[in-house]
Amino acid sequence: MDGSQLAAVFLSLAARQSIEALFILTRVSGLTQAATHMTHPLNIVILAAGKGTRMKSDLPKVLHPLAGKPLISHVLAAADQLGPESICVIYGHGGETLPQAIARPELAWARQEPQLGTGHAVQQAVPYLDPAALCLILYGDVPLTRPETLQEMTLIAGEGAIALLTVHLANPSGYGRIVRNARGQVERIVEQKDATPEELAINEVNTGILCLPAGKLAGWLARLNNKNAQGEYYLTDVIGMAAAEGERVIPCHPAAEWEVLGINSRAQLAELERLHQHNQASRLMSEGVTLIDPSRIDIRGSLTCGRDVLIDINAIFEGDVVLGDGVQVGANCVLKNVELAAGVQLKPFCHLEGARVGANAVIGPYARLRPGTELAEETHIGNFVELKNAQVGFNSKINHLSYVGDATIGRKVNIGAGTITCNYDGANKHRTIIEDDAFIGSDTQLVAPVTVGKGATLGAGTTLTKDAPAGQLTLSRAKQLNLPGWQRPVKNK
Ligand code: UD1
Ligand code: CA
Repeated sequence: MDGSQLAAVFLSLAARQSIEALFILTRVSGLTQAATHMTHPLNIVILAAGKGTRMKSDLPKVLHPLAGKPLISHVLAAADQLGPESICVIYGHGGETLPQAIARPELAWARQEPQLGTGHAVQQAVPYLDPAALCLILYGDVPLTRPETLQEMTLIAGEGAIALLTVHLANPSGYGRIVRNARGQVERIVEQKDATPEELAINEVNTGILCLPAGKLAGWLARLNNKNAQGEYYLTDVIGMAAAEGERVIPCHPAAEWEVLGINSRAQLAELERLHQHNQASRLMSEGVTLIDPSRIDIRGSLTCGRDVLIDINAIFEGDVVLGDGVQVGANCVLKNVELAAGVQLKPFCHLEGARVGANAVIGPYARLRPGTELAEETHIGNFVELKNAQVGFNSKINHLSYVGDATIGRKVNIGAGTITCNYDGANKHRTIIEDDAFIGSDTQLVAPVTVGKGATLGAGTTLTKDAPAGQLTLSRAKQLNLPGWQRPVKNK
């Protein structure tokens, strides 16, 4: 179904006021920005002013990382997927640290100072709201809400109702409770501290996430008071006001509880991190990746895998990592912004960053590839080898204990143990060029800039300061002396 067909279906369904049908539509079509936009623009408000006392941190809570990126960046990523007209972040505690860290010029930032409650927080966003838009309220410390769940809520609000995300919890303690009337309709939300014993027994709770027409929201916010147990302006009171005016409040539920879990402590952060990693591991396995232990993998960015990839324990993936068909990643490897082509074998304990590796290369154990490394097909990089900004040609081998930086290495080159490119003179970096079929003897230093010609051989121990001609043996080595009759000194008595 393309955009215009979708629009047509959407409009005909909307005309019939069929909310259920709209749900089905989103489920079938997946996320489409078109769906919310055809009728109403969307304004998103993210609450992030709170103190986060229990984190015991100098860093604002929403900047603490989950899967390698700040909590609030997860919320922003979900928000972006809905194609909103605007996003306004309410900040306060920690001052300008938060806007500076996020640095997205298109975001609106509203400072809430002092923090007088969630209702007061959303009041700060009112100047940024389009009265004709829908307003979706999210929380900077609730990172894993699926965009699909939020999109369903925007569709309900688009019908003129108030969509409220609620969940049933075995232990509802601490949350606002959803109070329904005799007909089962949502009537109001009561906070834990204001609740009667009967209300405390309710186990349907408020997640805080809601979507409603912005114009009406502004009106209700203006009428909030702080006459409650905490002396705060409660956003939740908006629900009671709306219901009293005969508005429809429609509860929506997340597909899974983790979608609405918020973070207040480091222990909760660690729990949600594991949960998120477990979800990512499950997705990889369902896509055909073998994980030796799905509880011992960390993906802090995006990981794209071909067919029959195998990942051993304790691998960490950061930034964007792409693994081709049949790639094997050994235990305890760290890969950041790396592309490994089909059939690459990465043995245990390797650290790769900013590298591209050609098909069937064998790397490690204990290899380090630094940014700018490009290995062609069937290359071999062995233990304790460090490469930086080096291009290595087809089937070349650097198998032991070497540093190769700022170098261009041809095809079928063999670099012996203990080879070092002396690329840095203390002020500038210089290149080493080693042409096809060259053989570099062990314990050689190549003082760049320097070129080793095609098919050249360098004798072991050479310190190469001038180019080595193609096809010849070059060596710089003190002549060996043998002293017959020489005797070891003996210790004085
Ligand atoms: C709120 C809800 C409660 C719900 C719970 C879900 C209210 C009155 N209560 O309670 O019904 O079950 O969330 O977690 O809304 N914040 C600000 N400025 C403020 C106060 C809060 O930006 O002045 C932000 C916080 O940073 C936080 C969020 O709003 O991200 C929720 O605030 P919090 O104090 O945790 O609300 P709860 O009392 O837990
Ligand atoms: Ca809370």
